[in-house]
Amino acid sequence: MTLLKEPDFGTPAVAGEAAVSLEVDGHPVTVPAGTSVMRASALAGIDVPKLCATDSLDAFGSCRLCLVEIDGKPGTPASCTTPVTDGMRVRTQTPRLEKLRQGIMELYISDHPLDCLTCSANGDCELQDMSGVVGLRQVRYGYEGSNHLDAPTDSSNPYFDFESSKCIVCSRCVRACDEVQGTFALTIDGRGFDSKVSAGGMSFMDSECVSCGACVQACPTATLQEKSVVSLGMPTRSVITTCAYCGVGCSFKAELRGDQLVRMVPYKDGGANEGHSCVKGRFAFGYATHPDRVLSPMIRESITDEWREVDWDTAISYTATKFQEIQERYGIGAIGGITSSRTTNEEVYVVQKMVRAAFGNNNVDTCARVCHSPTGYGLKQTFGTSAGTQDFRSVAQADVIVVIGANPTDGHPVFASRMKRRLREGAKLIVIDPRRIDLVRSPHIEAQHHLQLAPGTNVAVINAMAHVAVTEGLTDQSFVDDRCEGFDEWAAFIARDENSPEALEPVTGVPSAELRAAARLYATARNAAIYYGLGVTEHSQGSTMVMGMANLAMATGNIGRDGVGVNPLRGQNNVQGSCDMGSFPHELAGYRHVSDDAVRSIFESVWGRPIQPEPGLRIPNMFNAAIDGSFRAMFIQGEDFAQSDPNTQHVTAALTAMDLVVIQDLFLNETSKFAHVFLPGTSFLEKDGTFTNAERRINRVRPVMPPATGKHEWQVACDIAQAMGYPMHYDHPREIMAEIAAVTPTFAGVSFEKLDKLGSIQWPCNDNAPEGTPIMHVDAFVRGKGKFVPTAFVPTSERSTRKFPLILTTGRILSQYNVGAQTRRTANVAWHHEDVLEIHPHDAEVRGINDGDQVTLSSRVGETLLRAILSDRLPVGVVYTTFHHPITGANVVTTENSDWATNCPEYKVTAVQVGLRTPATPAAEPGMAAIPVTISD
Ligand code: SF4
Ligand code: SF4
Ligand code: SF4
Ligand code: FES
Repeated sequence: MTLLKEPDFGTPAVAGEAAVSLEVDGHPVTVPAGTSVMRASALAGIDVPKLCATDSLDAFGSCRLCLVEIDGKPGTPASCTTPVTDGMRVRTQTPRLEKLRQGIMELYISDHPLDCLTCSANGDCELQDMSGVVGLRQVRYGYEGSNHLDAPTDSSNPYFDFESSKCIVCSRCVRACDEVQGTFALTIDGRGFDSKVSAGGMSFMDSECVSCGACVQACPTATLQEKSVVSLGMPTRSVITTCAYCGVGCSFKAELRGDQLVRMVPYKDGGANEGHSCVKGRFAFGYATHPDRVLSPMIRESITDEWREVDWDTAISYTATKFQEIQERYGIGAIGGITSSRTTNEEVYVVQKMVRAAFGNNNVDTCARVCHSPTGYGLKQTFGTSAGTQDFRSVAQADVIVVIGANPTDGHPVFASRMKRRLREGAKLIVIDPRRIDLVRSPHIEAQHHLQLAPGTNVAVINAMAHVAVTEGLTDQSFVDDRCEGFDEWAAFIARDENSPEALEPVTGVPSAELRAAARLYATARNAAIYYGLGVTEHSQGSTMVMGMANLAMATGNIGRDGVGVNPLRGQNNVQGSCDMGSFPHELAGYRHVSDDAVRSIFESVWGRPIQPEPGLRIPNMFNAAIDGSFRAMFIQGEDFAQSDPNTQHVTAALTAMDLVVIQDLFLNETSKFAHVFLPGTSFLEKDGTFTNAERRINRVRPVMPPATGKHEWQVACDIAQAMGYPMHYDHPREIMAEIAAVTPTFAGVSFEKLDKLGSIQWPCNDNAPEGTPIMHVDAFVRGKGKFVPTAFVPTSERSTRKFPLILTTGRILSQYNVGAQTRRTANVAWHHEDVLEIHPHDAEVRGINDGDQVTLSSRVGETLLRAILSDRLPVGVVYTTFHHPITGANVVTTENSDWATNCPEYKVTAVQVGLRTPATPAAEPGMAAIPVTISD
């Protein structure tokens, strides 16, 4: 395995159709019109020397090293900024060009510390390379005059240094921050000799920088360099793999030196990210080798006992025996298992198979229950498949982008950068969110409409938008007539006065005129796309809202081509995959109901075991049954229920009531306090398999190092099943994928071999689409006709009251991830070391709360402590927090309310009260989930 160096063609590819033919140093080449001479030369196999150009950025033309001669053109134009023309004859290497380039390099080198042998970029420096390429043999100018050799180094960022004495002011970093990331944190200050890169006149850490690493990636010298490279040296080999954080699913080159991971470099050929990254995937991988990792299995008889380390055989046989004893005593339905959206498709598949074939029941559910289960339900009802409609690339064709209940710059940052690029190009933006997220106004972007609705009124807003489309004649009737069913009934419902923006304004808080304008903008766009997140799904009407968005998209013909669609931004890296793999109690892999005899028989013939035709228990049902005493044991793969699920007291009561709780995870966590068996899991760096991202893109996860635990996670489920008497064995995860493909029509064409060949595949992949399906429902919906479903608005029962007059809504921030188990064990804590409560200054003032005060946050189910931050991002009456830190225990206050169709918890609406913490209020114990209290409303 060697270090993979991707080619750099100097300027971006051009999509133009017209072909232009030219000759470079006598070599013919044909390229799309608009291509630069530099790129055409590179495609002809001739690399023109360059410093300020790189193919992820638009040409800039500042270094002048890429000069060429062109027949019939005077002078020596820069090849990076000169477009090709038909019949052009280019010379890249002549005595005149040599001399000019040497002169340019001489100037650069005369103001550069020539410490190449001890420089961290030695061997990976374009300045060094170009000196060699242009044949620089002497530098006539000494260091006597003015220079920048004493310029300071900024080490404030935890992950990279800015050694400004090495800067050649090529501006690649500034342009990467602008064009690729879209943060505009850097500028070139000063002019001429005084020009220097500046992070707004302050340190990187204090600046607007979000630590995405794009500037580090773009820098041709050691000026912007990963600290890990400075301390460990240049990597020598790389492995292509996939980020383990969010549902964007970015591809990375894991670059190693020996067995040590030095850095993660975003992979240019990654279909989801095309060479970009965020701070988490790029830098926050240290948790994988953190000393807190549990590497040996542990058991204990009682949760009050100390943990006892045991070998794998003992742990497996203990677990299997206990499961069997419980089933013998309480029945086969007394146990169940939970799959994790943080594990691979193959690992999820074997866990649900273990439950169905070895446990003999359908008591399997997934952590996706608490985030995107309404997406699965709503899109299946309307479109026929439980997944988003587009690939990420599609956003580049959208003219109107609607972001509902999502905060992409924090939650899905790499996709947000793609979206922001399109917005800078002129697409219009509608944000529907109670909170003023960054996208509403950020550099060079301003939303046309921010519909700042009251939490819990999504359905009212989407119905009102559809009302405008229907009653103002803005629907796409030919699309509806050709491709959909149920329109007339739905249109009659939606046209009722009760669904008008005016009638709903008192409920939603959204001015009717603004809502009408937003609806018209969406409905009349050439291409309008909806992107949404947990602010849509985590509501009592989560599924209704998903169907409401699908209705609106169908009614306006915004389905089935580039630039449109209904697109869930998935939270965890493999939340799509965990749902695809049959993790729900009512569905087998590929979203097929367990009651379908034909479907069951496919699995039964491959698995050799009968499958129960009745759906099993969902997570909340398991907890309720545990408290009732009929559900006694649970296998939990990578899910920290005691921190991430709502109504923590109820969850912990259920966990305490069980006879056996088996956890498979990287670290001891809040839930493991209630566990009897701890089976160490593997990090993404050790896994071998696939993740499926929010675009249905199946990406390979390749092992960078062997499992630190001595066992792959998929082997553990197999071993437990085996020990319970069900033979389940694979030699390699590719065999698991082969089985998935054999039993799942949408995966029929997927194999590790094909993934290695194509890089990634978007399902469905089968005989009809052998290389996958980037855009769904192109000619027809998966269910045949798209189905309109009336979506009556039913207000949540969770309302503000005299006792709990505020509404709490929750979200996430860029640097932390979910319950923080990974990111809290990295230097990302530098940005977010605690969860805080955002409260409107008016609400704070009436409670005597100042910025930074400790406050109590209480609901009818519990109370916790937080620091308050005054913020006018929220309307009066709404407060906001994140749930990344266990000490906060934000879910102590969230209630048991859930989506009517899927039981997805209503995290986004909780009636609360906030009060100044008095000296008498006991402090939360570190690591404990705050103070459970019982309060009756
Ligand atoms: S790390 Fe990213 S956000 Fe920060 S300056 Fe560099 S490109 Fe800009
Ligand atoms: S920091 Fe690097 S990329 Fe930025 S101007 Fe200097 S040399 Fe160029
Ligand atoms: S956007 Fe998501 S998948 Fe991409 S690097 Fe960041 S956390 Fe990883
Ligand atoms: S590479 Fe063309 S001007 Fe710098």
